[in-house]
Amino acid sequence: MFRALLTSRLQAAFTAAGIDLPEGFTPGVVIASDTRFGDYQSNAAMILAKQLKTNPRALAEQIKAALQVEDLCEKITVDGPGFLNLTLSPAALAQRLSVIVKDDHVGVPQVEKAKTIVVDFSAPNIAKPMHVGHIRSTFIGDSLARVARFIGHKVITDNHVGDWGTQFGMIIHGWKTQLDQSKLKADPIHELVSVYKAVNAAANADEAVLEICKGELVKLQQGDAENLGIWKECVRLTLEQLEKVYGALDIKFDHYLGESFYNDALAPLVAEMLNQGIATISEGATVVFSDGSVKPENDPFLIRDKDEWKPAPCIIRKGDGGYLYATTDLATIDYRVKEWQADEIWYVVGAPQQLHFRQVFAAAQRRGITTKMIHIAFGSILGPDGKMFKTRSGETVGLLEVIDEAIERARTAADEKEQGLSADEKDEIARIIGNGSVKYAELSQNRLTDYKFSWDKMLSLQGNTAPYLINAYVRTRSIFRKLDGEVTLTDDLAITEPAERVLAMKLAQFAENAHDILDDHRPNLLANYLYELADTYHSFYEACHVLRSEGTARNTRLTLCEATSRVLKTGLGLLGIQTTERM
Ligand code: ARG
Repeated sequence: MFRALLTSRLQAAFTAAGIDLPEGFTPGVVIASDTRFGDYQSNAAMILAKQLKTNPRALAEQIKAALQVEDLCEKITVDGPGFLNLTLSPAALAQRLSVIVKDDHVGVPQVEKAKTIVVDFSAPNIAKPMHVGHIRSTFIGDSLARVARFIGHKVITDNHVGDWGTQFGMIIHGWKTQLDQSKLKADPIHELVSVYKAVNAAANADEAVLEICKGELVKLQQGDAENLGIWKECVRLTLEQLEKVYGALDIKFDHYLGESFYNDALAPLVAEMLNQGIATISEGATVVFSDGSVKPENDPFLIRDKDEWKPAPCIIRKGDGGYLYATTDLATIDYRVKEWQADEIWYVVGAPQQLHFRQVFAAAQRRGITTKMIHIAFGSILGPDGKMFKTRSGETVGLLEVIDEAIERARTAADEKEQGLSADEKDEIARIIGNGSVKYAELSQNRLTDYKFSWDKMLSLQGNTAPYLINAYVRTRSIFRKLDGEVTLTDDLAITEPAERVLAMKLAQFAENAHDILDDHRPNLLANYLYELADTYHSFYEACHVLRSEGTARNTRLTLCEATSRVLKTGLGLLGIQTTERM
């Protein structure tokens, strides 16, 4: 907000001073990293002076003279080799504060041009174990969708579940030969996964079993009634259970268009791509080769083999007529573009699928698709020992188990604290803290790095954790509880103390932070911001009496508390984390 305002004033100053901007250069303002000189800073004069071969300080002075920011800043200085430093006025900060406590969007501006953004996330595979990668995808995708919606985009969330694939050959064979109906009723996902695992192991050991499974798959693909029935039941049971999990996590999808939804589109798509000359037949399969339009190192259809670039085509139809993951993704893109007029499609999927998406995006572009497609990749979650994350029984960890255990641990912690809360209240708090802790542990990480999963760390009340942030929120609320609703905040504000100023400044920056998250699709920027805000709030609270102050000072401080409360709640909400009034 201030950054955008100051940037446009700075640009106007260049025009007013009669300085022509060279092509490709837009002067900008950033939040100062060292606040001794000001709140915002611009190095535009230095960059431009270099290009124009003039004195940077003199140029900065010239811009300063033309800069019209009396309503926003109390001080402008030229420092060092030619930095322009801007210090906001207390009045401008106070004015922002009154916006933050009244505005639905806590002062965060809406995007000028709303886009239609499809967010493809979670997407577990039916009857295959849901791995921790799906946890990351679920939380990151949900948070990014929330942020995009919050700043004014039209967001469509779509769970592209893997409900059609070679695993069904094994599942159907297992269903017919070894399914335990009672176990299926009790926990369908678990039973389907164990059947799949058992058959998979048998097929690995015995070629004959593998052939049977392949046969079942072909029958399914050809529309055999019995196999179709089994498949449908697997999908139904799994989705039913998944929806419960998402419900408990407060995660919603607008659509569940799984892979099978596109089955009928695959044959025409492949035919069309052959016609368009994008695909060719090679050794019986239909594939997309490089078209040589980009440098080999950027070409997803080439692979380096010793000193040579060799073809690495994307297969869209196998020699036996089967279609692949890439084929479905190409059909899915067509659908999202045609039916939803998607301007952007975001794929929140683990880093190992990078090549897949590069190939699919490139193939779609060759078909004339101009929609912006982005693979939002992430690394792995590691166990406390630094190895692949496993449950106590040595299984790969599923979303459900993790959440259940987090809630259980949070419940134990709530019991230990015991402070006049009823069992129901404690259950609710444990649910919020448990869910929040797991989500926050994920979302506070840089998505591209692997991170270690640690129960103790994520549930701690100290440090960069959900309990710490939720507790900061609870503390802001407790002030108002003490006042017993007796307070009406007014616009009579005066920011005088340094601690008030620092907090007001931090609060104002939420407007910028909320937009920055989407530059590189990083919820951890938001998490870090909230953590800093909570810290800043605690320093303010230590330095300034709130309840024991009077008049304008009291109104200002209560407004700071209210604004902090609102920004924390909104910000946590954008991470998919709920708050509680007490804990
Ligand atoms: N089901 C896939 C998996 O588990 C993820 C799907 C991601 N979305 C997509 N459109 N390919 O690996």
